[in-house]
Amino acid sequence: MLRVAVLISGAGSNLQALLEATADPAFPAQVVVVGADRQAAGLAHADHFGIPSFVVPWRGAAEREAWGEQLQQQLERWQPDLVVLSGLMKLLPAAVVEAWSPRIVNTHPAYLPEFPGAHGVRDALAAGAARTGASVIVVDSGVDSGPILAQERVPVLPEDDEHTLHERIKPVERRLLIDVVRRIAVGELDLTAASAP
Ligand code: GRF
Repeated sequence: MLRVAVLISGAGSNLQALLEATADPAFPAQVVVVGADRQAAGLAHADHFGIPSFVVPWRGAAEREAWGEQLQQQLERWQPDLVVLSGLMKLLPAAVVEAWSPRIVNTHPAYLPEFPGAHGVRDALAAGAARTGASVIVVDSGVDSGPILAQERVPVLPEDDEHTLHERIKPVERRLLIDVVRRIAVGELDLTAASAP
């Protein structure tokens, strides 16, 4: 059974979808802990599903390394086989990425390498894109630059604003994320091979 740690910063709708999927005993993975950089609303999903959680409060970029060390201590306690960033709105310190990559994946609401970074949805709208997408990637030392494990196009509608477009992207993200976790759990997806130079 693949042990998964999920890190969030926000509402955790992708986390909720993963918790619902892993609640099925036939699903080959389990979420063992949920972590956040703040008292994120999404932590309520962990409570609802009886999953332990922790918060390592972000105290500014000047303390990124210390924050990363505390995060690493928490993750090591739970010995996950896979770390999933699902709406964690912080760049992980290099030491944390190096400790976990390639067993650390991220969901992104754009068709990478298009529109990387913290505002992928907003950037797609600003660019006048007719379509964008959702991606699941391996986290590497860059910003949304790791190997792509899954991605799918999502149309942009003329009347879209950032919220309506993001809400159309998220269900696609959730489906891709759950399928990637399942494929990793059953050995269909080899993260080391996916990350090979
Ligand atoms: C997701 O679209 C994720 O890819 C992005 O932020 C959003 C988080 O949404 N980084 P939620 O917190 O899972 O609802």
